[in-house]
Amino acid sequence: MIGIFDSGIGGLTVARAVRSRFPGHDMIYFGDTARTPYGTKSQQTVVRCCIENTRLLLDKGAKLVVVACNTASALAMDELKSLFDVPFVEVITPAVDLALNDPKNRIIGVIGTRATISSRVYETKIHAKAPNKIVHSVACPLLVPLVEEGWAKKPETRRIVKKYLVPLKTRQIDSLILGCTHYPVIKEIIAQKAGKRVRIVDSSLACATALESALADNPALADELSCNSRMEILVSDITPQFEKTAGFILGSKVSLTRVVL
Ligand code: DGL
Repeated sequence: MIGIFDSGIGGLTVARAVRSRFPGHDMIYFGDTARTPYGTKSQQTVVRCCIENTRLLLDKGAKLVVVACNTASALAMDELKSLFDVPFVEVITPAVDLALNDPKNRIIGVIGTRATISSRVYETKIHAKAPNKIVHSVACPLLVPLVEEGWAKKPETRRIVKKYLVPLKTRQIDSLILGCTHYPVIKEIIAQKAGKRVRIVDSSLACATALESALADNPALADELSCNSRMEILVSDITPQFEKTAGFILGSKVSLTRVVL
């Protein structure tokens, strides 16, 4: 089965995208809701959490792990790849590739958690492939709690998004990378506040495309993945709010199972 993890519920946007591409494949999702958010934590702590999350998914039978979290993808990939002998698909490289596939994109904006933005991973990866692109990034630490809290449609969320995007609008970005897997939940608001001419690059959709090519390149692995259309959602803490937000993201009532790491 395909294992997917995030710091919380937001990575379900990736699970949703993966499920729509691979409706028959079994999937196990782990949201580390007891320790969310990761974006405000140190690299050491994020790496430790990611190792435990990966171990859990592999113990449950995952044959491939999707790191459905930009913060984890920015801070923990080297460690995960050196410790575990399974294929990983992360979210940052696919988002960068998607942003770069439009040659008209000269000025690229990135929004993400504090940890992702201060790692400068997007700048590094974009400039490694396209040194002439201009990248401006802004940390938006309030957006993850707003999404987890189910405030996706509140006017306060609109106002906060608008304020965060001011420096990017001033710099006349051509595209905007949603560098956090929680942000697709408020994609319409972000697109509206960014303005019509800005192309939105959704890292959750880019990640599902990367998974598709990883499996096309590795038919033996694709054969190993079970296909009974099962989807299990594990979390490290359950509250009614988490259940509500998870249902909102997946568009159906969901049942969460609590696990102790
Ligand atoms: N969904 C995460 C990301 O893509 C997480 C946020 C967090 O835990 O701060 O970065």
